[in-house]
Amino acid sequence: MTSSTDVRSAAELLREGRLVAFPTETVYGLGADATSALAVAKIFTAKGRPATNPLIAHVADVNAAKRYATTWPAAADRLAAVFWPGPLTIVLPKAPAIVDAVTAGRDTVGLRVPNHPLALELLRAFGGPVAAPSANRSNHVSPTTAAHVRDELGDSVDLVLDGGPCEVGIESTVLDLSTDTPTILRPGGVSRAQIEAVIGRVSVFGHPSVDENVAAASPGQLAVHYAPSTPAYRFETPLRKLVPGDNIGLMAVGTGDALKKWGEIVAMPKISAVYARHFYAVLREIDAMNVAAIFIELPPDLPEWVAVRDRITRATRLLGAWYANV
Ligand code: TXA
Ligand code: MG
Repeated sequence: MTSSTDVRSAAELLREGRLVAFPTETVYGLGADATSALAVAKIFTAKGRPATNPLIAHVADVNAAKRYATTWPAAADRLAAVFWPGPLTIVLPKAPAIVDAVTAGRDTVGLRVPNHPLALELLRAFGGPVAAPSANRSNHVSPTTAAHVRDELGDSVDLVLDGGPCEVGIESTVLDLSTDTPTILRPGGVSRAQIEAVIGRVSVFGHPSVDENVAAASPGQLAVHYAPSTPAYRFETPLRKLVPGDNIGLMAVGTGDALKKWGEIVAMPKISAVYARHFYAVLREIDAMNVAAIFIELPPDLPEWVAVRDRITRATRLLGAWYANV
């Protein structure tokens, strides 16, 4: 596997039905030609991803997106005008050109125009839709650098385009516009308030399932997802107030008398966008430290933290589960 900023060879590989990892503003994607069942099958193999979990089709602009949906509501136009290119995925009834493997047999497709110059160059050079999940092994921590992709996928990806660290750091918001009620299936880089400012009230798909094994409307909504290898636990700090100089903690606990002897304490940024940008990379670093457990303090239960709290929740179990084991 090589790394390169050579977009033309990447587009050529996609045309040959091979896999190309590429940067987006959210996380790195593992791309394949969304019109080729054979190419898309390679994504599922490389990730070890269940065939039931649909992929997002990435396109260069709104006109390309319209080619791959059979309906295009006014709301999609308004959202695309404001948020594309950007971290918003819009789910609409799919056009036949998108192969069934992309949508896991569903009749809808998630469409997104990513906001990264290399991704856009690649999509223009390729000229078609690129199916791409995050470029990690299924259920592992998402990659925000080219090195993370190499660590995750090794030689199972033919080329990694290196566009530096991702700016947003967590995945796109997935918004379903295929039914009468617009519904956020996954919180992400665009907030509910931002969406509602453009199209009015939306509903939000239920919070993490209590039963961690039950699949939901959007398979990214499995309760445990994005998880490190080290057992990881979350806790609320209800009295915490965000005052100047106050940080949000992400803590890794060493082996030994864990409760008394903290191994590493990483202070995390108190601005949600900055926290999000660094979250997966820090989690990966701590995961590699060979600690017994990772404890993560949840940021405040406020609108600007919804997406970060979602990712923390899916990467961890409640702290009570850890006490039960000591
Ligand atoms: O920011 C992102 O969205 C990144 C970059 C690479 O674009 N991609 C990403 O892909 O996070 P992935 O496969 O890790 O997550 C895609 C999410 C999953 O939760 C999936 O279930 C949902 O989008 N999804 C995709 N197509 C869908 C559809 N037709 N209906 C419902 N949910 C869908
Ligand atoms: Mg993913």
